[in-house]
Amino acid sequence: MGMPRIDGDRLWASLLALAECGATAKGGVNRQALSAEEHAAWRLVIGWARDAGLTASTDAAGNLFLTLPGSDPQALPVLTGSHLDSQPTGGRFDGVYGVAAALEALLALAESDVRPVCDVIAVAWMNEEGSRFAPGMMGSQAFAGVMSMAEIEAVRDAQGISVAEALAEQMAVFAELPRRSLGFPLAAYLEAHIEQGPVLEAREKVIGMVTGIQGKKTWEITLSGMEGHAGTLAMADREDALAAFSRIAQRLYEEIGGHDTMVKFTIGRLRVEPNAPSVVPAKVVFSIDLRHPDNPVLEHLGQRLLAICTEQTAPCRVAVKALVDAPSNLFDADLQAQIEASAKRREIPSLHLLSAAGHDARYMAPLCPSAMIFIPCKGGVSHAEHEWAEPTHVTAGAQVLLDTLLTLCTDTSRGEP
Ligand code: GLV
Ligand code: MN
Ligand code: MN
Repeated sequence: MGMPRIDGDRLWASLLALAECGATAKGGVNRQALSAEEHAAWRLVIGWARDAGLTASTDAAGNLFLTLPGSDPQALPVLTGSHLDSQPTGGRFDGVYGVAAALEALLALAESDVRPVCDVIAVAWMNEEGSRFAPGMMGSQAFAGVMSMAEIEAVRDAQGISVAEALAEQMAVFAELPRRSLGFPLAAYLEAHIEQGPVLEAREKVIGMVTGIQGKKTWEITLSGMEGHAGTLAMADREDALAAFSRIAQRLYEEIGGHDTMVKFTIGRLRVEPNAPSVVPAKVVFSIDLRHPDNPVLEHLGQRLLAICTEQTAPCRVAVKALVDAPSNLFDADLQAQIEASAKRREIPSLHLLSAAGHDARYMAPLCPSAMIFIPCKGGVSHAEHEWAEPTHVTAGAQVLLDTLLTLCTDTSRGEP
């Protein structure tokens, strides 16, 4: 009786094929949530799943599920996956690795003699990145009941297209897919991902047992002033929104960004209106992404940040929209131990580490025992077109995922693989 084994070549080929969906000239990926490029990725994974006898389904939030049925319909399913959307200059591994590894684990299971007791489901969450539609992790937040569908559907992209419209288009393209209910009960959730940081590579480890995810807060800040003629309006009479932004940004970089060595502070998006060379800027809209592993420090910095935005605004006006407020969380200790045991059995070097990046697993953790498996990425680089993971690490992470899934979904699989 053969124990299921990851086919590393097939997994690598699937990553390369998925990288063609939204491929950029510089070897990266631009695959925005609910876009034609993401639809193309859906078609690929649905095709591979169906070829192996798995079933595909979706839900109201545009999450994709690929199911390998278990023998006991009463047993709660085990869910594993990540996301298929990317940053505009994203890489070939962030998110898509977790989906491809999950599907490969299911294919390996389907081809083996092992019959899972519960359904094992691979998931691709809708809009993890928050690049086209902010905030991110919409699919997992909808699944977890953290955001309502009404809130999510009202969000618009830079072209004015709403999530409701983009979701309706996706539902039309994949009209044949049956719909699951949001938030169906789960036995466990596992997510494989590249680390997106330097720790595993520096410590020469291949598997990371993720202890939790550092806290994150994001906002959209709007500064409103008054437009005017760049040649005639006296400096003293201006309500220049970009000048207000400059004052605010300088204080924020100094005080918030310089608070300690653990803080991460980013202004990643800036929109100036009317954005004309000879018109005093009337409006500036910018994003803030603030992260810290220590929740009280994150809270303190968040309050200070909002105070700075208000103090430095006059003579303009400020409006603040909070998008994400997610404290540091902890993943399930037993699942971490099972991942560690799986890595040990395969003699793959591993360590425990905190995730500096955000993941959908954050929203699964309150619902069911949840954990993450990291593999290294070259130079710790991610959210960049030259993001890279070694094929041997890609296979190792998927094998550890599969071995851990086996302990969760079968009675017969315990013991040495
Ligand atoms: C997720 O992509 C993050 O920005 O941490
Ligand atoms: Mn990701
Ligand atoms: Mn990402």
